[in-house]
Amino acid sequence: MKLTTAYFSKSKANGHKISMLTAYDYTTAKLIDESGIDAILVGDSLGMVMLGYDSTLPVTMEDMIHHAKAVARGAQHAFVVADMPFMSYQASVYDAVTSAGRLIKETGVQAVKLEGGRSIAAQIKAITEAQIPVMGHLGLTPQSINAFGGYKVQGVGYDGAKKLIDDALALQEAGAFSLVLECIPAPLAELVTSLLDIPTIGIGAGAGCDGQVLVYQDMLSMYDGVKPRFVKQFADIGSAMRTAFGEYKAEVESCAFPEEQHTYHIDNDILSRLIKEYPAAKK
Ligand code: KIV
Repeated sequence: MKLTTAYFSKSKANGHKISMLTAYDYTTAKLIDESGIDAILVGDSLGMVMLGYDSTLPVTMEDMIHHAKAVARGAQHAFVVADMPFMSYQASVYDAVTSAGRLIKETGVQAVKLEGGRSIAAQIKAITEAQIPVMGHLGLTPQSINAFGGYKVQGVGYDGAKKLIDDALALQEAGAFSLVLECIPAPLAELVTSLLDIPTIGIGAGAGCDGQVLVYQDMLSMYDGVKPRFVKQFADIGSAMRTAFGEYKAEVESCAFPEEQHTYHIDNDILSRLIKEYPAAKK
């Protein structure tokens, strides 16, 4: 059965920790779904891990739609959320509702995620009023990388921590059904989590959140870029892939691959006739 936003609120009430991973394509989404993970995020992190940009800023609405459609097709059970890309919602409430509507209508995902606090509360309110569930995102919000001046832990000082609490309350008030807290001190995340009725999903925010999210290429050691402290590597799929690709190359070069079981056949009479018709063919 497909999970809904009700699962998020029920999980918070029951103390069940919500598991979420990113995915950007059908095959990975299906594998994640079959593992029983609760939710999949089609993150704009795809700009880095799928498209090779050095930030999420160049990601377009077309990029998000393309990848979100594939993920939605692979997720039978997991709740799927897609990121609203940079500048698809910041400039106006109209932009926000139109962009969110496109993501839902054209992809089949169930919710959208926006980065930012009180300054985008009006956008979140309008999107939820259009019956589109919204996940908020506070802390180290990668779309603000130029304003932050780098990827730094957020909410460390009093003013930053207080602003984060105020932003979290504003997002809940605006109608968000859950909130990602990225790269903030664990005790602050725990405090925010205890103040909210909606669940928090942490990434680099400690174990006190109501759930966790990771970028799948990070947790499988597939991506060679920045490795934040909060990433645990659950498997070394990157090394396994490099080894397999190398073995494939060696077997192609030595003609060890393909073998008999990988090969199709043709009737010998037909083959002899073809060879007679094309005497230039090498035997
Ligand atoms: O884009 C993304 O993958 C995200 C997660 C890191 C939360 O926003």
